[in-house]
Amino acid sequence: MAEIRSVGVVGGGQMGSGIAQLVAVNGLEVWLHDSDSTALSKAHQSISSTIQSLVSKGRLTKEKGAEAVRNLKYTSSLEDFGSVDIVIEAIVESEEVKKKLFTRLDSIVKESAILASNTSSISITRLASATSRPSQVIGMHFMNPPPIMKLVEIIRGANTSDDTFNATKCLAERLGKKIVCSQDFSGFIVNRILMPMINEAFHALYTGVATKEDIDAGMKLGTNHPMGPLELADHIGLDVCLSIMKVLHAGLGDSKYAPCPLLVQYVDAGRLGRKKGVGVYKYSKM
Ligand code: NAI
Repeated sequence: MAEIRSVGVVGGGQMGSGIAQLVAVNGLEVWLHDSDSTALSKAHQSISSTIQSLVSKGRLTKEKGAEAVRNLKYTSSLEDFGSVDIVIEAIVESEEVKKKLFTRLDSIVKESAILASNTSSISITRLASATSRPSQVIGMHFMNPPPIMKLVEIIRGANTSDDTFNATKCLAERLGKKIVCSQDFSGFIVNRILMPMINEAFHALYTGVATKEDIDAGMKLGTNHPMGPLELADHIGLDVCLSIMKVLHAGLGDSKYAPCPLLVQYVDAGRLGRKKGVGVYKYSKM
């Protein structure tokens, strides 16, 4: 398989905008698409100001910053993805919505292109079944925020080819990441372990075991986690956490994965975390 030179990213939210920035800073052309024009222009502004701030702090040379800006192309039309070598999908965590997108991408991108998903938990094999190229579909799960976190979890679907795996691994390494490989089971490695812990922290809060501050401080100071589980849930997005718990519950079939009613209630109330200014905690700056 030829080297990846051009990348398409779908979804310009927290993850998609971070992935697009990371790819552009590492010298590859990147097309970023979001179906919501407001989200797309917010992504454009946020990526531009982050690159500017990296340059002014001396973490990126002026030339590299200018090159990264030139590498980035923002589009409201998926049809512009015709020449990309790989698409990294980072839209809402819904199997139905992702499958529709994969079917559409399959008809737009060139025959050799890889379709990768940044899904946190959804079956890669099932996303692949929505395309005519299951051997070229793979999970490429970045951590939040993508430019900073060192890991990419790679998930092979039942039909993912060695060529697709090797090209995806090379891309992750070119972006400066370490990789771990997971089989295609709900939640993969990281969220299979992390999300039940976050859900349990919600249960502790829900049943009055302790205050939110003490739950977070207990885990930070007691187990050396850099962030407490409730603070981390706000950082990830409570809607994303709830979607992942639902996938674990449905996919692994054990009641221990049932989402905590308090997590469900917060999401119903629009308390989605940092991105909305309120989740478990309130934030003055988003
Ligand atoms: P987000 O809510 O910040 O952004 C999602 C973006 O996708 C929005 O801008 C929305 O307008 C856009 N979108 C939705 N449907 C679309 C469609 N059909 N076509 C084009 N754009 C569409 O979500 P976030 O947090 O960036 O998550 C995205 C994906 O990344 C999810 O699958 C999530 O599970 C995964 N993920 C999230 C992490 C996190 O910490 N938030 C970490 C790792 C993976």
